Amino acid sequence: MGYKVAVVGATGNVGREMLGILAERQFPVDEVVAIASRRSMGVEVSFGDRTLKCKTLEHYDFSDVDLCLMSAGGAVSKDWSPKIAAQGAVVIDNSSQWRMDPDVPLVVPEVNADAVSGFRKKGIIANPNCSTIQLVVALKPLHDKAKIKRVVVATYQSVSGAGKDGMDELDRQTKALYSLQEVEEKKFPKRIAFNLIPQIDVFMEDGFTKEEWKMMVETKKILDPKIKLTATCVRVPVFIGHSEAVNVEFEKPITADEARDILRSAPGVVVIDKREPGGYITPHEAAGEDATYISRIREDITVENGLAFWCVSDNLRKGAALNAVQIAEALVNRGLLQAKKRAA
Ligand SMILES: NC(=O)c1ccc[n+]([C@@H]2O[C@H](COP(=O)([O-])OP(=O)(O)OC[C@H]3O[C@@H](n4cnc5c(N)ncnc54)[C@H](OP(=O)(O)O)[C@@H]3O)[C@@H](O)[C@H]2O)c1
Repeated sequence: MGYKVAVVGATGNVGREMLGILAERQFPVDEVVAIASRRSMGVEVSFGDRTLKCKTLEHYDFSDVDLCLMSAGGAVSKDWSPKIAAQGAVVIDNSSQWRMDPDVPLVVPEVNADAVSGFRKKGIIANPNCSTIQLVVALKPLHDKAKIKRVVVATYQSVSGAGKDGMDELDRQTKALYSLQEVEEKKFPKRIAFNLIPQIDVFMEDGFTKEEWKMMVETKKILDPKIKLTATCVRVPVFIGHSEAVNVEFEKPITADEARDILRSAPGVVVIDKREPGGYITPHEAAGEDATYISRIREDITVENGLAFWCVSDNLRKGAALNAVQIAEALVNRGLLQAKKRAA
């Protein structure tokens, strides 16, 4: 017997990927329900070679749903994730709403899969921020080897990280510029076409943005509270794929060759690192792929035990939908996801 799975936010960038990945990985489903806002009632979305018609969140009865993948933004998650969990479904929540709640596990299966068992307190498991996920996948095996003290990250984040409105804005502005029309700025605070923006999410009191704060606190929660991390998060005119320039300082010595070997055998990681033109990965190549790609691994001699590298992943897949489905698989593999009895 399979599970009844609901995908909330099924018309969105992440929701569509979730449906695709559930089908690709043959997650054991009996039924999949696509749910979105009232605007999308009846809109068709693909699940493998099938087509599902979207239902409306506020009218949906979750009482026979086993697993709910939530991907409709923080406000919807704030209201709905606890209500859906109270009806007995395990909720895997993609928004930032529940990530730092001490009663909600924050999980990247390559790093802390066993934390899924903590879902019982609230019935919710949180999926981390897209740029945190790829970072911790890369950091975990290096931390195990040489113990990380401090990380400095600069991100280059694609517009799809801001949802379908973000992709539409880059598309619209690029077309407007080529046809000499006025460029409208709606979704992003400045023009994104042929530009970049050193602000993602709102400013905090200390001058960091909330996106930067999320990377700091989420990395500590998932990997190790002792790790110090500072970040500068930048939106770039790329449709899909987040990139990161990462500098790491370790307690113990580690060479670039050792790091390359460790990363080559690390789960979820692919190393592409030839010291020649094009011998590295770009977001264009990572789009549509599952791995976290690492390139440009080198020793950073400005600190005692330092490494620098380049890290790229598809933010809609490993940064969101794939990680959520892997969390669901971790629950299934541990016998923690029960299928409810349903009328035949
Ligand atoms: N994009 C990423 O890289 C990424 C990574 C990690 C996490 N996330 C998180 O994932 C979530 C979705 O992101 P996205 O990129 O897929 O956004 P998106 O493309 O803008 O899609 C938003 C989805 O939410 C639905 N929705 C909005 N308001 C709703 C409501 N009141 N009731 C029911 N459904 C509602 C939309 O339905 P309609 O089409 O009917 O409006 C749509 O399906 C966000 O919380 C985001 O922070 C995104």
